[in-house]
Amino acid sequence: MNKVSVIGAGNVGATCADVLAQKGIANQVILVDIKENFAEGKALDIWQTAPVNMFDTRVIGTTGDYSKTKDSDVVVITSGLPRKPGMSRDDLISTNAKIVDSVTKSVIEHSPNAIIIVVSNPLDVMTYCAYLTANIDSSRVFGMAGVLDTARYRAFLAEELNVSPRDIQAVLMGGHGDTMVPLPRYTTVSGIPVTEMISDEKLTAIVNRTKSGGGELVNLLGTSAWLAPGASAAQMVEAILMDQKRIFPVCAWLNGQYGLKDIYLGVPVKLGRKGIEQIIELKLNDAEMGLLNASATSVREVMGVLDTMLASN
Ligand code: NAI
Ligand code: 2OP
Repeated sequence: MNKVSVIGAGNVGATCADVLAQKGIANQVILVDIKENFAEGKALDIWQTAPVNMFDTRVIGTTGDYSKTKDSDVVVITSGLPRKPGMSRDDLISTNAKIVDSVTKSVIEHSPNAIIIVVSNPLDVMTYCAYLTANIDSSRVFGMAGVLDTARYRAFLAEELNVSPRDIQAVLMGGHGDTMVPLPRYTTVSGIPVTEMISDEKLTAIVNRTKSGGGELVNLLGTSAWLAPGASAAQMVEAILMDQKRIFPVCAWLNGQYGLKDIYLGVPVKLGRKGIEQIIELKLNDAEMGLLNASATSVREVMGVLDTMLASN
């Protein structure tokens, strides 16, 4: 039996649960929220789409009863505040760290063997927070950002080139913030290097739009995006449950890869039933490595804020 729990039944969590149910890959999806009756309502609404969307995944909601999440195979943590216009992801750190810490404790207590995917922002540091609390191997605690950021990059390129988004292959590295590192050298359109199909000027504009892709949505919506984030988290869950060995950019704990150690950062990994089964080390050139190091420095600064917060508690 495949069981997935999604913590936080807000915009991203409910979307993730809905997409998971429609994929038909889990027997049960449990939605948990702290707001009284909220997860129950969202779960009931999703469950009532089953006869229309033709799935049989049982979707169940609960207000904080973690016994219902018992023995989950995968847990997606989306609980926490989203960004409002004018806020950076890092502004959310102290509130969301308390939330991520407390929900991770409850998750691990009831599902000690689960794989945990963190979505809450600031993403790289909340993933670090969940890792510290869960105290399990880092192959089982990682964050969703790269799948979303790469999807934005691929969508912008597909629009500009007037081709199917399915044919854009790309990888993006670094932290989930303005220092993220899209990699044009590793971007192809059905195997054709993207640089042969687009001018440098247009490509640079797309890279820059990707870096501020989350902020663009916050300005349009008044809160952060949820459809693409929820679908991106669900795609990672699918790769795990189905043991697909897919290569995705994932926020992973580095232990010397890329010359970086003791840091959560977006890198390409192989995802399968055991979680992160391999971290793939690309042969980055000096310029790309410089951008990755700059991104790592900015993530480390925010990790330091969390370390200081934890030390003073
Ligand atoms: P939302 O406000 O719609 O939902 C968050 C939910 O978490 C709320 O329903 C709230 O009641 C719940 N919650 C708060 N404390 C809780 C607790 N202790 N236990 C259980 N539930 C709790 O927010 P939204 O839009 O769903 O975003 C969720 C998080 O995901 C935010 O931190 C946001 O910044 C982040 N995010 C990350 C992305 C990424 O690429 N990694 C993309 C989009 C959003
Ligand atoms: C996003 O990238 C804000 O992290 C959120 O949409």
